[in-house]
Amino acid sequence: MSNRIKFFKEALKNIKTLGTVTPSSRFLSKRMLKGVNFLKADVIVELGGGNGAITKYILENLSPNATLVCFEINDNFYTQLHALNHPQLIVLKASAENIIIELQKLNFTKVDYIISSLPLTIIPDEISDKILKKAFKILVNNGTFIQYQYSLSYFKKLKKVFKESISLEFEPLNIPPAFIYRCKKVE
Ligand SMILES: C[S@@+](CC[C@H](N)C(=O)[O-])C[C@H]1O[C@@H](n2cnc3c(N)ncnc32)[C@H](O)[C@@H]1O
Repeated sequence: MSNRIKFFKEALKNIKTLGTVTPSSRFLSKRMLKGVNFLKADVIVELGGGNGAITKYILENLSPNATLVCFEINDNFYTQLHALNHPQLIVLKASAENIIIELQKLNFTKVDYIISSLPLTIIPDEISDKILKKAFKILVNNGTFIQYQYSLSYFKKLKKVFKESISLEFEPLNIPPAFIYRCKKVE
């Protein structure tokens, strides 16, 4: 069974936590990572790894001494990510709202990039607010939070946390087409 069909089946069971029925295309995955300075990134976090559509591209580009920590709450996706069995990948079956505590357990106090495909609009407001604030806190100064969304409905919320340091891109070749927010932490 192809990854796309496996993802679709999982989405039918868990649409409230997946927020889509199809994994990110290579076009979206690559655009998400455009501008990531892999040479200078020691710790990268991925929120909502799914079946690894973006994870695989991050791993392909990761510096030899860098670590990717991936958060995923879905059992089947956690198993698939774990099966990638990459020495630089740590997969946590944990919610993004616990980002700080989970990273502290691994002795990481700061991260360089957070690559998120969380379905922010269907996560309850109080939880998504917490996730954004904690993501901001754990980023290094000048670190970047990268998020895609199929609409612009989350722009205002991101602005509250990241102020004016947000740039926007569009990927027309994804199904559905997606906006990408690049939110820089500037203190
Ligand atoms: C839209 S899918 C994206 C999957 C994959 N990254 C991609 O781009 O194809 C969102 C993913 O976020 C996961 N997710 C949802 N809420 C989460 C949370 N609070 N913490 C961690 N992962 C979460 C879902 O299980 C799902 O795998």
